[in-house]
Amino acid sequence: MDFTGPVGGQQGEGTPGRPQEGLPQPPDSSALMQECLQQFRVTGAQLQKIQASLLASMEQALRGQASPAPAVRMLPTYVGSIPHGTEQGDFLVLELGAKGASLRVLWVTLTGINGHRVEPRSQEFVIPQEVMLGAGQQLFDFAAHCLAEFLDGHPVSRQALQLGFSFSFPCHQTGLDRSTLISWTKGFRCSGVEGQDVVQLLRDAIRRQGAHSIDVVAVVNDTVGTMMGCEPGLRPCEVGLVVDTGTNACYMEEARHVAALDNDRGRVCVSVEWGSFGDSGALGPVLTTFDHSLDHESLNPGAQRFEKMIGGLYLGELVRLVLVHLARRGVLFGGRTSPALLSRGSILLEHVAEMEDPSAGVARVHAILQDLGLSPDTSDAELVQLVCAAVCTRAAQLCAAALASVLARLQRSREHQALQVAVATGGQVFEQHPRFCRILRETVMLLAPECDVSFVPSVDGGGRGVAMVTAVAARLASHRRLLEETLAPFRLSHEQLAAVQALMREAMAKGLRGEASSLRMLPTYVRATPDGSERGDFLALDLGGTNFRVLLVRVATGGVQITSQVYSIPECVAQGSGQQLFDHIVDCIVDFQQKQGLSGQSLPLGFTFSFPCRQLGLDQGILLNWTKGFNASGCEGQDVVCLLRGAIRRRQAVELNVVAIVNDTVGTMMSCGYEDPRCEIGLIVGTGTNACYMEELRNVAGVAGDSGHMCINMEWGAFGDDGSLDMLSTCFDASVDQASINPGKQRFEKMISGMYLGEIVRRILLHLTSLGVLFRGQQIQRLQTRDIFKTKFLSEIESDSLALRQVRAILEDLGLPLTSDDALMVLEVCQAVSQRAARLCGAGVAAVAEKMRENRGLEELTVSVGVDGTLYKLHPHFSSLVAATVRELAPRCVVTFLQSEDGSGKGAALVTAVACRLAQKTRV
Ligand code: BG6
Ligand code: GLC
Ligand code: GLC
Repeated sequence: MDFTGPVGGQQGEGTPGRPQEGLPQPPDSSALMQECLQQFRVTGAQLQKIQASLLASMEQALRGQASPAPAVRMLPTYVGSIPHGTEQGDFLVLELGAKGASLRVLWVTLTGINGHRVEPRSQEFVIPQEVMLGAGQQLFDFAAHCLAEFLDGHPVSRQALQLGFSFSFPCHQTGLDRSTLISWTKGFRCSGVEGQDVVQLLRDAIRRQGAHSIDVVAVVNDTVGTMMGCEPGLRPCEVGLVVDTGTNACYMEEARHVAALDNDRGRVCVSVEWGSFGDSGALGPVLTTFDHSLDHESLNPGAQRFEKMIGGLYLGELVRLVLVHLARRGVLFGGRTSPALLSRGSILLEHVAEMEDPSAGVARVHAILQDLGLSPDTSDAELVQLVCAAVCTRAAQLCAAALASVLARLQRSREHQALQVAVATGGQVFEQHPRFCRILRETVMLLAPECDVSFVPSVDGGGRGVAMVTAVAARLASHRRLLEETLAPFRLSHEQLAAVQALMREAMAKGLRGEASSLRMLPTYVRATPDGSERGDFLALDLGGTNFRVLLVRVATGGVQITSQVYSIPECVAQGSGQQLFDHIVDCIVDFQQKQGLSGQSLPLGFTFSFPCRQLGLDQGILLNWTKGFNASGCEGQDVVCLLRGAIRRRQAVELNVVAIVNDTVGTMMSCGYEDPRCEIGLIVGTGTNACYMEELRNVAGVAGDSGHMCINMEWGAFGDDGSLDMLSTCFDASVDQASINPGKQRFEKMISGMYLGEIVRRILLHLTSLGVLFRGQQIQRLQTRDIFKTKFLSEIESDSLALRQVRAILEDLGLPLTSDDALMVLEVCQAVSQRAARLCGAGVAAVAEKMRENRGLEELTVSVGVDGTLYKLHPHFSSLVAATVRELAPRCVVTFLQSEDGSGKGAALVTAVACRLAQKTRV
């Protein structure tokens, strides 16, 4: 470098070796010396200003606000906890960027026992200058070559090699093994790497090299390796500080303060990247002309201004620039320079460190200066020592100011008055410089007196910490594989869904013909949807969903008006005796009538009864079997209308005129049909699932008549009860089925409806826990309880507006203590289960729509589906996934979904109204 002097105006002087006699001797060399050293003095006030400004810059970056001046970056690292010391295994570590022009390969063994260390094996490789400045591919090929050479030369195990990549440059990480280089620092400038994922580049190079199979599991900054490798001690080690060729720190921040993260629970390690701090307001007064010259001549002018005052790559160079200046001013070396002194990079950190080392003595200073082609006298050696001390003292003080701002940040985020923390330190400046750490410590004590800080030198130069992170990453990767394997059977392909659709078509046809089929295809005696001319007041009952309701439905010219009340059906009643159940129902009706002032009136009543019934007419329905957790004795095989009338008789005081019994699918279709005449399909996805649709009467065996339509209650919940869906059934479905009150029954329903999805999820969570994938493998008592995981949690958890933190809160309310990783996995389990349900449901609707299209001989069918049910309505994605699946499987049907707003009770009243209208007509 052709240094032109700190005060300028002497361009062109000082060609290497040129005799210096002509130079004017300074009047007072001691004053010049003082003036020069003075530039490196930083006052306490200046340090405080830097500390404050850096803290402000850190907090601004945490909030995600861009700053106009290049400031600190605050990069989240995906390391979420400090090590617990139980990590174990053998790991390969590759270090690039920490030790300047050299690259290190280590073999680290973690024993899993606190305090028990195995010395790592390591090998260092010098990176040729042309590689540091060449093409990116060349650099990564070089790294892969070093790995191979290391493995060939060391007797280490060759199986399943897992590598941690310590890459010490500013990177945007998007995962533990994904990291995009923002910009090179510290003398590296390889083309084609900035903006690329460095893990991928390394993987590609390893593949090209081909000699070993190595899995790159994690990428970490050197500061993180330093912090993570710190032996667990009395106080938590939550800061990693590196002063190597460059300088930087990381610390554990509260995740909720990091705007760039979706997760705000727990902590995350943030790499400050303070090397880029360059706030001109704060740094301006302490920047010397030597700093400006150094920056100007560097590979990255204008960047990393703070680092260039502290990092080991620059300290020797700063000393050299000062020495050249002083020599030229005649203060040193009798006014002579040498070619070596004038060439960039000739004074290294190790020289500076040695010259300052009191144990090495002045003789060592002489020797070093002589090696530079200089002839120092005794006073020269002492002055040079002063220069070195000035440069390094400033570096340590600036570093202390930066560390003090990290400590202040840590204190603020923890809301602690007094902070006790261990700082892991690493890097060659700490290792080589005799006074750096002491000055740093003393200055930190002055700047952050309220913090009680202990400094802990890093282990194995951070290699152990990298291995720790790699161990964690490897564990997470294997967990992900297990999760994927577990969920794979829930992810249905197009072919599988098309097969379900075809099977359903077949079962529908058989059911309609009265042949053995898992689809009963029950005629409902509803032949027409409402025509709008229905009038009158009706009572309706609605039994079989989440709520039991009694309703008063007024059908008038202006529309339908509904008054209703929800009553509970205690589980003991739902599963007690039939008589008890129907008496309870009548009690509710009587209560409702009294409240509505209807006592004594005998209004026509429509009964939504959402269970499979063989109907012989509108007002006759024989319960075939209970479903959905009902199991009242003495009802199966009985006419439900008779059971209700029996209870009415027993209650004497009331008179009720039961006109129609209606399945909820039919009620929903009728209710939506009142608004849209194209509504010819009814679909329920709630506690249970089922569908009905308008079939050609000629296709319905057992009902007289060949023309017109009849609504068919498919009872598709039972689809697959003949084993036809066994190929899709997972072990979780089998166990939910086995534990239910109707094993072997309602197999399709048990894969789709709200009564079962939460339970499927719970069983998957138990399985994943037993594999150690969730909850650190600890079985949680709450999760052992059946039905603890409600299907409404799926809807809540999968809601897009929720951040992962809310997912965690929901699950924690349930008594499940989980980490962010756990929360993410639970979310994925919920998604897999609900997506399968929605896709299966879509395959069913596609089968129905296609059948209707073919029945009617249409090229294209336009039809609406009236839908109800808590799962369908509350789940954020269910409805759109059903619609998408229908489009995929029935491309010739244009299917619109209408959500029923008023429940099936309104439909039951409308069925009753139609029946009354038709009855009146026949009487007239
Ligand atoms: C409503 C009906 O329309 O939907 C109920 O009124 C029906 O009778 C219900 O069973 C289905 O939803 P869920 O979620 O309550 O089972
Ligand atoms: C540079 C890098 C940073 C690294 C530091 C210490 O500042 O940008 O990532 O931590 O050097 O090696
Ligand atoms: C169950 C019932 C069925 C009802 C469905 C939706 O499958 O058997 O009749 O329609 O649940 O509630």
